[in-house]
Amino acid sequence: MEILNRGDALQAWTAQMRAEGLRVGFVPTMGALHEGHLTLIRKARQACDRVLASIFVNPTQFGPGEDYDRYPRDEARDRALLEGEGCDALFLPTVEEIYPTGRQTVVRVGAMSRVLCGASRPGHFEGVTTVVAILLNRTQPQRLYLGLKDYQQVCVISRMVQDLGMPVEVVGVETVREADGLALSSRNRYLTSEQRQQATALNRALEAVRARYRQGERGGETLSSLARAVLMESGLDRIDYVALCQSDTLLPLPQAGEDPIMLLAVHVGGARLIDNRFLARD
Ligand code: PAF
Repeated sequence: MEILNRGDALQAWTAQMRAEGLRVGFVPTMGALHEGHLTLIRKARQACDRVLASIFVNPTQFGPGEDYDRYPRDEARDRALLEGEGCDALFLPTVEEIYPTGRQTVVRVGAMSRVLCGASRPGHFEGVTTVVAILLNRTQPQRLYLGLKDYQQVCVISRMVQDLGMPVEVVGVETVREADGLALSSRNRYLTSEQRQQATALNRALEAVRARYRQGERGGETLSSLARAVLMESGLDRIDYVALCQSDTLLPLPQAGEDPIMLLAVHVGGARLIDNRFLARD
């Protein structure tokens, strides 16, 4: 695996890919890799000629008091994991490499980025779309691979790509879960063993909602209340949001329409965990 520390090395690598007519799949990450990230690498390998990953803990998507400083960083382990998956190249930029002249220009997606996580983490998606736009400009891939656990992130980035006419296909990849249903997240590391057990309630809440939907319930408030009740029963009372939304627009749904999605965000100990479930899809 080629390690690309600097922008000029990345530029030479992408120029070579273009010259050889090779299709590049790009997997941007903030490191602390887990099976979810490795699944993105595998999907990219299946569909593309070369796979490029990046590790960059992007300061601009963390709000004041959030976990930027303590976000888990383990470059040696991450490199070994990527190497093991046959990743072809890894871009490892510094903050100065990404934001060499500060940050006067930002990319901001409208309404869709202000709801749900955007409401409780102001500026978060602006940081995400700006860094992803920079990374896409620098890496010029044909495909961009993102995990569907961060469903709103996938929607917001897809909207940016569409609105700005960026020549890349966004591929959302299924959430990878532990055996007990907990969605994999780098932030699961913050949980004590008791909190780790409590965190299984996120998946249970979503499963309960899906079962009730399959029995014919369509009321947004009823389905959301059910999810809240399952979370509260497990002692998870710091619920940031539980929302039934239209999957393509993220507009809230008083009544489940076509292809609804239930999304939730919950504070468990020092971690803020998110998860989601499509109710009508298999
Ligand atoms: O999902 C993440 O890890 C980050 O938000 C991303 C897409 C790498 C941008 O920093």
